[in-house]
Amino acid sequence: MTTATALPASELVGRFSKPQGFGDATLRSPRADSIELLGGIPDPHVLPVAQLAAATERVLFRSGVPALQYSRTEGIAELRQWIAAREGVAVDRIIITNGGFHGLSLAIQALINPGDLVAVDNPIFPLFLRGLELATTNILPIPVGAAGLDLDALESQLRAGARPKALYTVPDFHNPTQGSLSQADRQRLVDLAAHYGFVLLADNPYRELYFGSAGASHREFNDSENVIHINTFTKTLGPGLRLGWLVVPNWLKSDISALRSRQDSHSSTLVQSIVAEALTSDETLFDATLDKARATYGNRAQILATAIEVETQGGLEVQIPDGGLFLWPRIASDRIDPAKLSESAKSHGVDYQQGAFFPSGPGTDAARHLRLSFGHVSEENLKEGARRIGLAFKEQS
Ligand SMILES: Cc1ncc(COP(=O)(O)O)c(C=O)c1O
Repeated sequence: MTTATALPASELVGRFSKPQGFGDATLRSPRADSIELLGGIPDPHVLPVAQLAAATERVLFRSGVPALQYSRTEGIAELRQWIAAREGVAVDRIIITNGGFHGLSLAIQALINPGDLVAVDNPIFPLFLRGLELATTNILPIPVGAAGLDLDALESQLRAGARPKALYTVPDFHNPTQGSLSQADRQRLVDLAAHYGFVLLADNPYRELYFGSAGASHREFNDSENVIHINTFTKTLGPGLRLGWLVVPNWLKSDISALRSRQDSHSSTLVQSIVAEALTSDETLFDATLDKARATYGNRAQILATAIEVETQGGLEVQIPDGGLFLWPRIASDRIDPAKLSESAKSHGVDYQQGAFFPSGPGTDAARHLRLSFGHVSEENLKEGARRIGLAFKEQS
């Protein structure tokens, strides 16, 4: 059943059917020295390159070279065991994937039929919407704010009769809005999922990248039979690995394995073996990598936010997030046109993602925001990028 506020995806997509700068325009910059504050890209200096190189050599010289053979659909045992121990779940609930987006695609294919209603973040990470559209275009947007998904808005939709098959949200350091769900709201969300019978797709690529103390735990997700918890090594060990995992509820384990076995069979045995070898031969490696990442990204978030405030003299309202790889400043004055600001910024040699790039329905002001990525950008370039945004800002004010 749908309600008056369910939207066909086309209505959301319509707003970004000609996305400003996704994949094409953003990659073509007008200036050779352009600073690109684009994409959730980890800094290569933070990634454990030497350890991965050494692990590669070890797995390739292992007797019989199992890393070059076929392996199990669900993933190799060593990696699943390492992940299961960190997630605090039984090993048979872990399914290795080719990264987060692949995990989302598997979840969509396993659960969603044409015409099914799916509740989603508003604004939303565009790739999920694009993947979802292959299965259904019946969308129920639920606003996301500084405290994550608006559960009051969700509950009122459910009480009014909306019956989504699934709900998609990024619970930690949301892309793009940066909000995170509190511990209490995680429990409330899984309780709503159980009560109204939908599956929560908790997409969590940024969960480890908190800047201060650890964020809320993931127990509520992993303990629930109504949740698929989607994870990836993309932001921690590198997107080029194309390696991630799902924590699946018991009732879905065999369906997802069967689905996967009819696709690519399994993720690269070699990549899994390298990562498993690196992580298990030095049990401190992952946490040491995360410590470095948290310190680097926390520092960069602070530097960029301060520089943006100074250079735009408060014209961009910035909040430093508690983690993740993005700032989500809001253009304070309605007199400034976000598209013109972006054009002007490009001509001054700085490129970022406009808020309008992220599909949104009623109830958000995403189009008044900028998404600024800082993970892979040097401190010097962050300051220079902010200076250039400041120039564009003055030009448009
Ligand atoms: C919210 C969200 N989900 C999923 C992904 C995809 O991750 P992966 O590169 O592992 O496919 C990203 C990557 O930027 C993301 O921001």
